[in-house]
Amino acid sequence: MRTDTGQVFKLEDYRPSDYLIPKTELTFSLSKEATRVTTVLTIERRKGVDAGTALALDGDELKLVGVSIDGKALGAADYSATPDQLTVFAPPQSFQLTIETEVDPSTNSTLMGLYRSSNVYCTQCEAEGFRRITYFLDRPDILSVYTVRIEADRTEAPLLLSNGNPVQHGNLGEGRHFAVWHDPFPKPSYLFALVAGSLGKVADEFTTLSGRKVELGIYVEHGKEALAGYAMDALKRSMKWDEEKFGREYDLDVFNIVAVSDFNMGAMENKGLNIFNDKYVLADEQTATDADFANIEAIIAHEYFHNWTGNRITCRDWFQLCLKEGLTVYRDHEFSADQRSRPVKRIAEVRTLRAHQFPEDQGPLAHPVRPRRYREINNFYTATVYEKGSEVVRMIRTILGTEVFRAGMDLYFERHDGEAATIDDFLKVFEDVSGRDLSQFALWYHQAGTPNVTVSSSYDQSARAFTLEIEQSLAPTPSESRKRLMHIPLAFGLVGADGKDLPYDGVEGATVENSVIHLRKRHQSVRFTGIAERPVLSLNRGFSAPITLSLEQKPEDLIFLAGNDRDAFSRWQAFNTLLTDALISGFRNILGGKQPEFGEHLQGLAGRIAADTSLEPAFRALALTLPGESDIARDIGKGIDPDAILAARHACASTIAAANEQGFRYLYEELRDSEPFQPDADGAGRRALRNVLLDYLALLPGGADLAASHFDNATNMTDRAAALTVLAQRHSDSAQADKALKHFEKQYSTDALVMDKWFIIQAGVPGPRALETVRALTEHPAFSIGNPNRVRALIGTFAGANQTGFHRADGESYRFFADIVLKVEKRNPQVAARLATAMRSWRSLEPVRQDKARDALVSILKQEKLSADLKDIVERTLA
Ligand code: PHE
Ligand code: ZN
Repeated sequence: MRTDTGQVFKLEDYRPSDYLIPKTELTFSLSKEATRVTTVLTIERRKGVDAGTALALDGDELKLVGVSIDGKALGAADYSATPDQLTVFAPPQSFQLTIETEVDPSTNSTLMGLYRSSNVYCTQCEAEGFRRITYFLDRPDILSVYTVRIEADRTEAPLLLSNGNPVQHGNLGEGRHFAVWHDPFPKPSYLFALVAGSLGKVADEFTTLSGRKVELGIYVEHGKEALAGYAMDALKRSMKWDEEKFGREYDLDVFNIVAVSDFNMGAMENKGLNIFNDKYVLADEQTATDADFANIEAIIAHEYFHNWTGNRITCRDWFQLCLKEGLTVYRDHEFSADQRSRPVKRIAEVRTLRAHQFPEDQGPLAHPVRPRRYREINNFYTATVYEKGSEVVRMIRTILGTEVFRAGMDLYFERHDGEAATIDDFLKVFEDVSGRDLSQFALWYHQAGTPNVTVSSSYDQSARAFTLEIEQSLAPTPSESRKRLMHIPLAFGLVGADGKDLPYDGVEGATVENSVIHLRKRHQSVRFTGIAERPVLSLNRGFSAPITLSLEQKPEDLIFLAGNDRDAFSRWQAFNTLLTDALISGFRNILGGKQPEFGEHLQGLAGRIAADTSLEPAFRALALTLPGESDIARDIGKGIDPDAILAARHACASTIAAANEQGFRYLYEELRDSEPFQPDADGAGRRALRNVLLDYLALLPGGADLAASHFDNATNMTDRAAALTVLAQRHSDSAQADKALKHFEKQYSTDALVMDKWFIIQAGVPGPRALETVRALTEHPAFSIGNPNRVRALIGTFAGANQTGFHRADGESYRFFADIVLKVEKRNPQVAARLATAMRSWRSLEPVRQDKARDALVSILKQEKLSADLKDIVERTLA
């Protein structure tokens, strides 16, 4: 375990490396406990660097066996070596450095470097895992051409994979064999990968735009080949889409994907050899939900798209992480929008952004999309870098327009192919193609925090003028107490009584282009003239900027927008705002000892949206989904009492259900699936709507029986898991819930990914007893503290998605959580640190819970020898 050294890495300290490594040759002699790695590096001193400058290579827990230069072993006076560094004191100007290291994949529980997952050798090198394999200049601006030779026992590892193209393979005698791979594209070490083992293969091929044939392979556990068909289809669609939308072709003869069961993240874009968490590969209708299918499609696309945005053009340093991640998320969002429904996809994106990125940006872990400092880079694979990073790219497109944006992307690929680039380089291409100055816009990369925009409006009948008073503000965030004014693009419409946008003949006080107001100052008074009637303002359409909006709108205006705005996102937003307002006032009533009340307009509108067949079912499902408990908490802001929020939400759902019983029952029956299962947007949308209706109907008399029969009659995992969730959450003490949970457990006991759902569902059951359930489940035979998916399913869900269970007023859940985080840390600091981020909003709790939460965080810090990963998160959370 890498313990904390207190070292802080700063962007301003970046300087190019003194030495370059144009060529890297690796030989792996694989064995479970003692793998030998022979590394031959062709090294050159960079021009202008003094002779005699030492070469310091990175390592992490390495065991050095031998080191030589140009074939001559180094003497003790020529170098020094520790597990974390190999220094050659005065190397020549250009030379070959041969390093021999020994690593033990069988005991590597960090899942970084070379490790074993279900008897397969595999690697994970991003961000700094390569240094756990051999000593290297392990930084993304060192681009090298790799040749990799793998030797292994043929029975144990018939399959030997690495990056690039296969060049040679053969027998070695004594049951061993070898394969050689060569990757012609210079790449940083974090994109290196190796896989060796016995796996099943799904093969296909793809012919690129220019007619090159590419062999595609997806490797999975034997017997699971049939579960990789959807991923393969998604891969081919991704390859085609990138050609059509960005003119990007694939560049090697083969493209391989390997699914493994033990993986810290979702997946990894290693050049020509993507390695995936099997959760994002394996699917069929009996084991995966519609949400799983959508995630697989998105992540397959994401990793594939990295081939250009990340691999061909990589990052100069880790501060530039969003250069590849924000951009690639933007690209996978666009892909999913094209493959499915654009408005539905946008609503889902915004929900995710608000649920994961807003709390980060508004709490102690806030950091800019392009951070300036870090202690542990693993902790910067965040919603801010990924999701807000994508929003920033989206805003560039909004500001420049689709065509100029595409021209900028073309220039980016042309200008920086084969380079390790920066965010400044990225912005510059858009300035160059558009002739615009993006320096104020660049603050979106440099300043942390979610800007708030306050708006009030007035209509002057006699002057036929509509005026908006708009003000922006940005609260201080850790290490940034003073903020500069941002350039905020606000898409808008002035909606007339007939639902159409009203024309105007003039505008003063702001630049307005293509129905976007450009807010650049603290306060702008924007006046539209020639407006025939009082308009209803529709602002931040499509969520054009990732901000919070303080806009007082009358309920009747929101109801009007919910029913009439031509922007589907804004229709959803208007209804969601009505629901949120009602839930917050319900919450306040409950805290004040009163009954919550919900106006009839809400119930009526919910019924109309449910039945409106001019709207896609998926949209109706999203609209009818009440804001979650943490969404409500976020909008309340401070003094959070999760029990009161749960009660308000429950009362609101019950009222809507009771008022719409007939209509909901009718629709529920009508939506019963008639056609065979298809994992596409249409089928998924119908199931989503029907399952939302079930959630409401389950609150009415007979609800437990209805949910139980939904469960018994389900013909796919989407419906089965939805019914089980409803039973567990709405009828947790019922015989029906108990029976269904047992049945599910028995039916899927050998399927780890499905058992994750069983853990997730139980960890999410609200109320104080969840702690006992979760504690007991840590003893369940299917639970494993070393498997990140299992840990996230049980502990991650409990801490991140069970407000009332986790934030128990007596603080017991926090104590349990601190203990288990420390247990996880012993094996896997990266997963432990990510779990611990669940505490990031502790200051928004009411005072009693706040104290208990602080105590638990402090108890973690009292441990001796904390990992750099966990210490960094906990200290920043408490700061
Ligand atoms: N680069 C990976 C992705 O975005 C994420 C990742 C980071 C995976 C670090 C593993 C380790 O898709
Ligand atoms: Zn990525």
